[in-house]
Amino acid sequence: MNDPTSIRLARSTDAEQISRLYKDVWDEYRDEFPDELRISRQPSPEEMKTWLGRETYFVAVDDDEIVGVVGCIMEHGACLLTHMAIEKAYRRRGIGTALTNTVIQHAKSNGAFKVWLDTVPILREAISLYKKLGFLKSGHLKRHFWGADVELYELVLT
Ligand SMILES: CC(C)(COP(=O)(O)OP(=O)(O)OC[C@H]1O[C@@H](n2cnc3c(N)ncnc32)[C@H](O)[C@@H]1OP(=O)(O)O)[C@@H](O)C(=O)NCCC(=O)NCCS
Repeated sequence: MNDPTSIRLARSTDAEQISRLYKDVWDEYRDEFPDELRISRQPSPEEMKTWLGRETYFVAVDDDEIVGVVGCIMEHGACLLTHMAIEKAYRRRGIGTALTNTVIQHAKSNGAFKVWLDTVPILREAISLYKKLGFLKSGHLKRHFWGADVELYELVLT
């Protein structure tokens, strides 16, 4: 990843900026996602504060601006990588890779057996990123999220 962007643990005071980032990113998919799916990915600042209190999030920061975010939900010894989004102007600079690697490292440090995730087939850039980092497709759920097909990917940790 190019400097000066850096990755750090998210804090509750980041909620407003993260909420805005999710709004911008998922509005790009307004015509491609079921409305319910898009809205479920666009928490209000208050909802985002709740997510931050419940789960672990990492942010990519450039000059105090949050330009990327990803979450990790630890359950049953597995880490669910969730809600990854990079601001449009900052894509293709290695930030998605750096955030995914941070989640993998966090999962390993916390004794997880795997990192897994769900995504939708239209997010081709994300699927390409996960495959590049060694994730394997492990499932396809038909009409799973408000009628949209969902794909599951996993990276088993050694
Ligand atoms: C998917 C996303 C997170 C990737 O973030 P990024 O910071 O651009 O990713 P990186 O720069 O680390 O790219 C890593 C790899 O991802 C893939 N990739 C990223 N953008 C791509 C594009 N526009 N076309 C094809 N592959 C792409 C490539 O394999 C790339 O490796 P390469 O540069 O060596 O070819 C970003 O595009 C994004 O936020 N998209 C919208 C939201 C989203 O899809 N979230 C994922 C939810 S599951």
